[in-house]
Amino acid sequence: MSEKRRIVVTSALPYANGDIHLGHLVEYIQTDFWVRFQKMRGNACVYICADDTHGTPIMIRAAKEGIAPEDLIARSHATHLKDFTDFEVAFDNYYSTNSPENKALSEQFFAAMEKSGGVTKRTTPQLYCEHCKMFLPDRFVKGVCPKCGAEGQYGDSCDKCGSTYAAEELGNPVCTTCGGTPVVKDSEHLYFELEPQHDYLQQWIPGHTTSDVSNKLLEWFSEPLRGWCISRAAPYFGFQIPGYPDKYFYVWVDAPIGYLASLQNWCDKNGQKFADWWQNPKAERYHFIGKDIIRFHCLFWPGMLHTAGFEQPNKIFVHGFLTVNGEKMSKSKGTFVNARTYLDHLPASALRYYYACKLGGTTDDMDLNLQDFVQRVNGDMVGKITNLASRGAQMLNKNLEGRMGALDAEGQELVALARSRAEVIAQHYEDRRFSQVPVEVAKIADAANEYFDRREPWKTVKLPDGAETTRTTLTTILNVFRILAIYLKPILPAYAEKVAALFGEASYGWDDIAKTVESTTIGKYEYLATRIDAKQVEAMIEKAKVKPADSGEVAHESRASKNKDKAAKPAEAAAAVAAPALKPEVAFADFEKLDLRIGKVVACEIVPKSAKLLKFTLDCGVLGTRTIFSGIRGAYPDPAALIGKEVLFIANLAPRKMSVGVSEGMILYAGEPGKSGGVLAPLAEAGAGTPAT
Ligand code: 2FM
Ligand code: ZN
Repeated sequence: MSEKRRIVVTSALPYANGDIHLGHLVEYIQTDFWVRFQKMRGNACVYICADDTHGTPIMIRAAKEGIAPEDLIARSHATHLKDFTDFEVAFDNYYSTNSPENKALSEQFFAAMEKSGGVTKRTTPQLYCEHCKMFLPDRFVKGVCPKCGAEGQYGDSCDKCGSTYAAEELGNPVCTTCGGTPVVKDSEHLYFELEPQHDYLQQWIPGHTTSDVSNKLLEWFSEPLRGWCISRAAPYFGFQIPGYPDKYFYVWVDAPIGYLASLQNWCDKNGQKFADWWQNPKAERYHFIGKDIIRFHCLFWPGMLHTAGFEQPNKIFVHGFLTVNGEKMSKSKGTFVNARTYLDHLPASALRYYYACKLGGTTDDMDLNLQDFVQRVNGDMVGKITNLASRGAQMLNKNLEGRMGALDAEGQELVALARSRAEVIAQHYEDRRFSQVPVEVAKIADAANEYFDRREPWKTVKLPDGAETTRTTLTTILNVFRILAIYLKPILPAYAEKVAALFGEASYGWDDIAKTVESTTIGKYEYLATRIDAKQVEAMIEKAKVKPADSGEVAHESRASKNKDKAAKPAEAAAAVAAPALKPEVAFADFEKLDLRIGKVVACEIVPKSAKLLKFTLDCGVLGTRTIFSGIRGAYPDPAALIGKEVLFIANLAPRKMSVGVSEGMILYAGEPGKSGGVLAPLAEAGAGTPAT
């Protein structure tokens, strides 16, 4: 297939200090639909993303965990990428904003911004915590709302009355990190002035996003545009600003530049030139973002790109928020569901299908109605669409040696009807009206099911001379189904791969819709999709519930909810659990034979198909890297949380061959098998000592 368009696509970069949840996935899944569609059409399309790693919250979270920010962001990167991969979100590059490419590009942007005269200095009063020795970002201070008097409000806006204000205006301010009382101190900052680009941006915005978004933005243009504070005082985890030793780029400066850095990194790894992609006026560039970050992408970012001489995005696609059962996602109701919690209970394909049904390419919020979710997946995706294949292929394999025949006139008509919607569906994908794709597919599936029921192949197959009629019916059904699978491939990629394998074909492109499959022998039918049960959804919600006492920072939620069984158990009841009997005494001489060492966990993952095992990769210092399987998954359901810890292990245990691989030692753990509440020895934070001794 020859290359037609050259397209760079991005999704917003998720912060490295939180888990991916179903709200995030609204964006990544729809971007993935669009990218996969572009690739199927033969366009050269590259999907770029990265973790957004800088800023105060990441610095504070790492400090609370007693690890370096670099270790925290390395752990998040691995966890995020695994979550995305398991949801079939296929980035061409998933990088990090804490990269050399991003540092160089950020410095290049800043130099251009300074050269343009757009960077100014201003001194402003700001809250400072003498104990934490830092200026406090708005979200790290709480106090009394200066407008309505509500207590416990953040430094930027009031939850109760909705007013916005400066943090210094709060009554009785408290540092949320240490509980101390901050003082007001003058602080000098760098600002990027936007007013010089007033006319440019006013003219640029309307053509580059939807009218509702641009109308809202243009309301600000009746007055001079306010400058944007682009610096943060030390201590800060980020890039230091050249020429300003105690100042760092505000995270929102290097985050969008991170799109370019990740693209640069992809180009370097793939023998491509950045100039042929971002800086190519013939190439196309699109950002998918949520409506909460419009200001950064449609105002500051084009202002920066324009100043630094970079190409602008062609369009910024803005989507709304996710609600669950018509309400804001709630931790206490269990509707704030992490990606991994979902995957522990339900298949990724079900959510992808349901999101497709609900995404119309607008900024409207999207509701995940859990009852409707089960019904649509079972009724349409499984009952109406997949059943065509499961009935057709299984009947053909069972009764007719799996050999397809040729289409008769009626079959040709039905297949032509299915094929006739190709360009309509393609346009829906192109315009991001994803919800129309399942609608179109369901209409064709209805016609195919009607044909199937009318031709009664389960009866004709039993007639003495019914084999060929049945073969023709099933050949028609399978051809129609094959076309539907191609239509659905951007939404259900793994599903479509299995369909291609069933027909012995290579991965589908859009052009494969034109082909008819006749007189070939199909392969074994592999289950494509199974019905989901409301009980799976209930179990997921139960698992995601965070009790009020546990609620707090988003960053700590998942761990709190995963440990909730332990927390729920009264201390007396826990103590009453009978201790396992002691094993026979061991002579000191035998104990001495054990070589106990400390290793640092560099990777820890769940072993598929095992309820108990975790696969550890340990950095064992002079001993090198070791793989150890340990049956403590029940105690550590979130293996990623162990990365960076130091653990005690037996280094001279003979390697043990297990069904999942060879285990090169034994990690020491004290606790009840399969239950949480035990402890890994020494469960220290890495960095306290050197591995091995
Ligand atoms: O809002 C967020 O989650 C940000 N981390 C998005 C950054 S997008 C881009 F600009 F990098
Ligand atoms: Zn403090």
